[in-house]
Amino acid sequence: MNTSFTDNYDRAFLLDTMMGPNAMRLAEEMANFLSITPGMRILDLGCGTGISSILFAQKYDVTVFAADLWVSPSENAKRFADLGLDAKIFPFLVDATKEIPFAHEYFDMIISVDSYQYFGGNENMLPKLLPYVKKGGCIAIAVPGFIQDYPEGQLPKEVQPFWTPEWYFYSSRWWHELWEKESGIEITLLREMDSCKQAWEDWLQSPNPYAKSDMAMMDAGAGKYFNIIQMIGRKR
Ligand SMILES: C[S@@+](CC[C@H](N)C(=O)[O-])C[C@H]1O[C@@H](n2cnc3c(N)ncnc32)[C@H](O)[C@@H]1O
Repeated sequence: MNTSFTDNYDRAFLLDTMMGPNAMRLAEEMANFLSITPGMRILDLGCGTGISSILFAQKYDVTVFAADLWVSPSENAKRFADLGLDAKIFPFLVDATKEIPFAHEYFDMIISVDSYQYFGGNENMLPKLLPYVKKGGCIAIAVPGFIQDYPEGQLPKEVQPFWTPEWYFYSSRWWHELWEKESGIEITLLREMDSCKQAWEDWLQSPNPYAKSDMAMMDAGAGKYFNIIQMIGRKR
């Protein structure tokens, strides 16, 4: 019997809802490395359509604040209510680069799946987010990236025709060096995620038009240079 929550989930719902490599699969793997107890309060920053929020609320019985910029809280509220999760997941419109509308020391953890790269690849984001995490709590991210650093203009030939700067893909070393600069956090985990390939394969089966265009890139062989980097930092 397959014990994966994601594999047993409503596949049609997931394919219709995902916005990139299967966020439920990534959230499930990520959660295996976190100490989660029922009733915890988690901020899912850059939650998109909230698939990762759903995983945390349903599998771990935690309260999730599902914050996103591009997907409206009204759309997410309807999705969560349809699943009977409106008392467990609370949708918010948040631009992480602007004011964060929560109380300090409010969250047991901040998680972010396939979105931190859009706003967090700079020295300002960790010090900005840390006040919202309880002491001893953590920030956990999963970001798509490259298996190594490529100097400017030297991307693998399979990647070059598709790459744009808006991907914000970096290596795990790059992310580690960035987070190491922040003294308020202790990096407790840095790894490449096992479910990267499967999460991408799920995404390529989605009817989302972006998945269709990503198919050409994966068919060209670009995927062998991709990974998904998981990093956890504990607030000191
Ligand atoms: C590729 S989607 C992934 C969404 C979801 N986490 C998932 O994996 O399916 C990237 C998400 O990052 C969010 N995002 C980008 N910039 C952001 C910002 N400044 N503040 C909050 N969210 C942001 C977008 O709203 C978008 O939903």
